Amino acid sequence: MHTSYVGINKLCFLLSLALCAFLLLLIPSLQAPSRQGSLPQPRAANTRRVNWTVLPDTWGNSTTTEAHHLAAPQTPEGNVEHPQKGITQSSFVAPRVRDPLELRDVFIAVKTTKKYHRSRLELLFQTWISQVKEQTFIFTDGEDRELRGKAGPNVINTNCSAAHTRQALCCKMSVEYDKFIESQKKWFCHVDDDNYVILPSLLRLLSSYSHTQDVYLGRPSLDHPVEAAERVKGDGSVSVKFWFATGGAGFCISRGLALKMSPWASLGNFITTAEKIRLPDDCTVGYIIEALLEVSLIHTYLFHSHLENLQRLPSNTVLEQVTLSYGGFENRRNVVSVGGAFSLAQDPSRFKTVHCLLYPETDWCPKTNHH
Ligand SMILES: *[C@@H]1O[C@H](CO)[C@@H](O)[C@H](O)[C@H]1NC(C)=O
Ligand SMILES: *[C@@H]1O[C@H](CO)[C@@H](O)[C@H](O)[C@H]1NC(C)=O
Ligand SMILES: *[C@@H]1O[C@H](CO)[C@@H](O)[C@H](O)[C@H]1NC(C)=O
Repeated sequence: MHTSYVGINKLCFLLSLALCAFLLLLIPSLQAPSRQGSLPQPRAANTRRVNWTVLPDTWGNSTTTEAHHLAAPQTPEGNVEHPQKGITQSSFVAPRVRDPLELRDVFIAVKTTKKYHRSRLELLFQTWISQVKEQTFIFTDGEDRELRGKAGPNVINTNCSAAHTRQALCCKMSVEYDKFIESQKKWFCHVDDDNYVILPSLLRLLSSYSHTQDVYLGRPSLDHPVEAAERVKGDGSVSVKFWFATGGAGFCISRGLALKMSPWASLGNFITTAEKIRLPDDCTVGYIIEALLEVSLIHTYLFHSHLENLQRLPSNTVLEQVTLSYGGFENRRNVVSVGGAFSLAQDPSRFKTVHCLLYPETDWCPKTNHH
C-alpha cells in the first residue's frame, strides 16, 4: 500500500512533467501566428510593401552592376534596335530572382513652368512622352486648359511660385516626392522640360538594380562633392560635404530609398530641409541621401543636361544614353550630333531625329527608302 501510494505519486509527477513539456512545445506554435501578423506594421511604410519571400534573393551584390554602369557609355554593343534583349536575357539567367522591370513601374516627373508649356512641353508630348503617357506627370505652376486636355490628371498644378528661385524649385520637388510616394511605383525619375528620355536605356539601367535597395542614380554636377553649411541649433552651422545628381540631367531614386527620405522630404518637410542648407532642390536631394541617410550617389554619365557640351557626345553612343538635352542660355546650337530624318533647321533640338531613330514606325517620321 505504501509502495503503491509512492507509485501513484511518481506517476502524477511524471504525468505533470509530460504535460509541462507538451505545453512548452506548444507555446512557440501558439505565438508564431500572432507575431507574424504584427510584423509588417505600417509604421514604416517601407516594411509594408516588402515581399519577404523575395527579399533575400533580390539582395544581390550591386558593386558589379555599379561598375558596369560607370563604364556603360563606352560599351560598343549598343543593341539599340533590340533594347529588350539584354533585359530578357538577364531574366532568363535568374528568372526567380527578379521580376523583370517594366516601364509602367517607373514614375517620371517632368518639371516645367507655365511659360514653357508650348515651347518645350509640346515637343516632349510629340516624342518620348507619347510612349509613357500613363506614368509621366507634369509638375507645373499654372493652369493651362490645353495642357489639361492633353494630359488630364497627369498635369499637376503644384501651386508653387513660377519664379526660378530656390524656394519655388524646392516647392515643386516636394510635390513631386509626395505624388511619387502616393503612386506606389518602384522608381522615381525626375527630369526637366528640356530633357529627352531614351526609355529603352532607362529601363535597362534601372533593371540592373532592385527598387527595394537604396539606389540614387545620376550625373554628379561637379567633379568634387559640394560643401555646404548646415544650420544647427542656436546660431551655429557645421560644414557638410556630399555629392548630388544634377537635376537638369535627370536622376532616379528607388522606392526603398525614397521611403527612407520621408522624414526630411514628405509633406512639406523638403522645404524645411532645403532652408536648413539654403541650397537648390537637386542639392537638397543629395543632402538628404548622402549626408543624412549616408547612401552614396551612383555616378552615371548616361544623364545629360544643357550645361554640358552635347556636341562632344559621340554620335554612335547617343541612343545608349538615358537622357539628352539641348540649347542652354548661352548656346542655342548646343545639341547632340545625330543625323537622320530632319535637318538642324527642321529639328533644332534633335529630339525628333532621335525619336525617329528609336521609333521609326511613328506616323510623322519620314519613311526610309528600304521599306
Ligand atoms: C511575393 O513573392 C512571391 C514569389 O515571387 C509571389 O509568389 C507572391 O505572390 C508575392 N507576394 C506579394 C504580396 O507580392
Ligand atoms: C561583391 O562583389 C565584389 C566583386 O566581385 C567582391 O569583391 C565583394 O566581396 C562582393 N561583396 C559581397 C558582399 O558579396
Ligand atoms: C493647387 O490648388 C488647387 C485649387 O485650390 C487644388 O485643387 C490643388 O490640389 C492644389 N495642388 C496641390 C498640389 O496641392
